Amino acid sequence: MIINRLELKQFRNYESLELDLSPGTNILYGNNAQGKTNILEALYVACTTKSHKKSKDREMIRFGSEEAHIRLLLEKKEIPYKIDTHLRKSKKKSIAVNGLPLRRASELMGIANVVFFSPEDLNIIKNGPAERRRFIDMELCQLDKMYLSDLTNYNKCLGQKNALLKEIISDRQKRDSLIDTLDIWDEQLVFYGERVISRREKFLQELNEIIHVEHRNLTGSDDDFQICYEPDAKAEDFSVKLKNSRAKDLRYGSANVGPQRDDINFLLNGVDIRKYGSQGQQRTVSLALKMSEIELVKREIHDAPVLLLDDVLSELDSNRQRYLLESIGSIQTVITCTGLDEFIRNRFEIDRVFYVENANVTEQSKKGS
Ligand SMILES: Nc1ncnc2c1ncn2[C@@H]1O[C@H](COP(=O)(O)OP(=O)(O)OP(=O)(O)O)[C@@H](O)[C@H]1O
Ligand SMILES: [Mg+2]
Repeated sequence: MIINRLELKQFRNYESLELDLSPGTNILYGNNAQGKTNILEALYVACTTKSHKKSKDREMIRFGSEEAHIRLLLEKKEIPYKIDTHLRKSKKKSIAVNGLPLRRASELMGIANVVFFSPEDLNIIKNGPAERRRFIDMELCQLDKMYLSDLTNYNKCLGQKNALLKEIISDRQKRDSLIDTLDIWDEQLVFYGERVISRREKFLQELNEIIHVEHRNLTGSDDDFQICYEPDAKAEDFSVKLKNSRAKDLRYGSANVGPQRDDINFLLNGVDIRKYGSQGQQRTVSLALKMSEIELVKREIHDAPVLLLDDVLSELDSNRQRYLLESIGSIQTVITCTGLDEFIRNRFEIDRVFYVENANVTEQSKKGS
């Protein structure tokens, strides 16, 4: 897949932008707070309907405006697509593909695949389980429409069950009749939850097959590296565990068991590096994980995703920089940075260089090769 062009109107600090991209490597460089990441965010929103940093639609609309437009022209297996995303302050966003409005945002899934890589991703091992679940969900929701639908339904039911639990605690009179309705939510939670857990398990098994190769290439060592899924409840045990947690749920006023508490473990020669890894080891694994994600997406969609690198190079030492740049290979990439030193030092071939200053983007002559 190749993104050929991005057009923005009233998005973040851009009043208007028209940007033609190269199918190879594109660099957006400039000082802080000029609008580099905003471009990557727009690309990510246009491809996935959501912001990579979980911003609300209204936050992405330019201050003082009521709506924002993102237009993306892309090509996939030689078929052109035009994706129009229209963000509105007080209404749901609307999306049209080739001029035809989608009934639901989720219908966009499967058309455009992007992998976003930000400095926060380098802390995924160090950070809490919520970040690691988000890593799984951000990717699986793009790859698998059923997963997106199962997860959305699961979370809706979870929200309803938690609201009900709170009501039960506060309303003593209705307590018994309300408790009966908990069964209905639990049934739904088991149905969707089992599917979410099974899909996550398969995803992590597939990642595991790839990651030890990436890790070996990165470190040049023979270390045994494993990534393992740590479900709070296995799919086959979920129903029983949910039943057994009823008393606890009622005590705490929230649901205590389920995929909302899953985690991923990383074992280096059998040692849990979330707890015992050095900072350098943790970063290497984070990088390997991200590289494996790209490889997995390639395999699943039989095509290359577009890679969005938000200021990650400056966070890596020169070995890891070189590894990342070499691994990009032929994938279309949009990279943000504050300077071009890393590319020059690594003699990295850049196809297009854009300078970003106060929401103005101007193309520069090629540097770095
Ligand atoms: N809704 C909005 N309307 C107008 N401006 C906005 C909006 N949201 C963010 N901004 C502005 O966008 C700018 C930040 O842009 P961005 O995050 O793309 O910067 P950057 O070039 O990536 O900087 P850095 O190098 O620090 O990461 C800030 O000046 C911020 O005030
Ligand atoms: Mg930025």
